[in-house]
Amino acid sequence: MTTPRPETLAKLTPVLTKRWLSPDAWRIGTYERLDGYAALRKALKAHPDDLIQLIKDSGLRGRGGAGFPTGLKWGFIPQGDGKPHYLVVNADEGEPGTCKDLPLMTHDPHSLVEGVIIASYAIRAARAYIYIRGEAVHAARRLRNAVQEAQAKGYLGRNILGSGFDLELVVHSGAGAYICGEETALLDSLEGFRGQPRLRPPFPATHGLYASPTVVNNVGTIASVPYIVLGGPEWWKTMGTEKSAGPMIYSLSGRIANPGQYECSMGVTLRELVELAGGMQPGHNLRFWTPGGSSTPLLTAEHLDVPLDFESVAAAGSILGTTATQIFSDQDCPVYATYRWLEFYHHESCGKCTPCREGNYWMVRVYRRILAGQGTHEDLDTLLDTCDNILGRSFCGLGDGATSSVTSSLKYFKQDYLDYIEGRTAPKLSDKQLVGAH
Ligand SMILES: Cc1cc2nc3c(=O)[nH]c(=O)nc-3n(C[C@H](O)[C@H](O)[C@H](O)COP(=O)(O)O)c2cc1C
Ligand code: SF4
Repeated sequence: MTTPRPETLAKLTPVLTKRWLSPDAWRIGTYERLDGYAALRKALKAHPDDLIQLIKDSGLRGRGGAGFPTGLKWGFIPQGDGKPHYLVVNADEGEPGTCKDLPLMTHDPHSLVEGVIIASYAIRAARAYIYIRGEAVHAARRLRNAVQEAQAKGYLGRNILGSGFDLELVVHSGAGAYICGEETALLDSLEGFRGQPRLRPPFPATHGLYASPTVVNNVGTIASVPYIVLGGPEWWKTMGTEKSAGPMIYSLSGRIANPGQYECSMGVTLRELVELAGGMQPGHNLRFWTPGGSSTPLLTAEHLDVPLDFESVAAAGSILGTTATQIFSDQDCPVYATYRWLEFYHHESCGKCTPCREGNYWMVRVYRRILAGQGTHEDLDTLLDTCDNILGRSFCGLGDGATSSVTSSLKYFKQDYLDYIEGRTAPKLSDKQLVGAH
């Protein structure tokens, strides 16, 4: 394991993670001692429209994957329409490799609760939901406990801190389906239906939960709000780049010495993150990686110095996504890794649209054939052709995301595929695992 140099250590900017190592960080006493709920007091004195403007000025962009400007989204909620408004926090976190929202909710649930109250006040919502993945039992317990603690202190419920603002916050556990992280499938699931994406338009801003105006935001997005209210937009913009402002929690996994969460200003590079994580594991050299989960095209050792912000990663041919960097070495096979991801997409496809439902089913079978040493050169064309028919033709982003590792691994690592097809690499799958591959 290598020790990071002081100039690399200086890249760490703990903002959302600043309390995580404090004893009992999840308790309201600790939270309040460390600035907790000070932003709420300040926010409740402001006009809701001014809060929306503040978030716009900060340049905060959604942390759920797409990087949509948060203040703009809040501004889409029609005011004075006489309908109930809702805030829904997307805490599903199902993207493979992504591990930033669950640790945040486990270690510092009050930062999310405080963000929810401020955001709800800004968009004039009297009811908010946190939709959390069903398997995340520990984080859900911490959240429910935080809601109770906040209620007991008068931060939630009726007439919050004497402001006249009422808010009920419900923590709802889903059943653990990746598609329920897609915001409209999430809303259907929350309403008690099977979680499948809705046709858009109309968008959730006007026809969201129970056909009412709704903001859906990621955990990290909403947890950023109290810091922006307290520190101001100019301070927030001192971190990150001009178009990708603020700090970001990067989750690192794979062949590195210390996997985990590293919060840095946006624009940090993977080279710096790997150094912060103590370097690669002994005997491993980085070969390929995802910048933002398995739905983002693979990058290689050539891209170690790409700044990890929305624009620079896009310019390098990938997507910043959920900032989940999964790091693979020269001892890992890009064909096999892609196959395992495809198994995931095939399993999680909700089945609503043909390109994703049939395309992923088909591609899994082609991969099995290749990995069992029975692939043909034609299979590579079939894969690209199938991706071409899924990307941009699927009903939601799951289908598009499934093609990312296929097309990018074929772009950078075609030789690895040929090695299976032409018999230079020993098959990884046996004939038994080949069921249905032809
Ligand atoms: C298949 C799929 C899964 C998704 N899963 C999540 C998720 O677990 N958490 C999340 O915040 N966003 C997820 N998203 C993105 C959401 O649809 C939505 O863009 C996001 O919650 C908006 O929040 P933000 O603006 O704060 O980023 C997913 C999208 C797709 C297509
Ligand atoms: S792309 Fe896949 S997950 Fe999305 S609606 Fe179509 S079948 Fe369902």
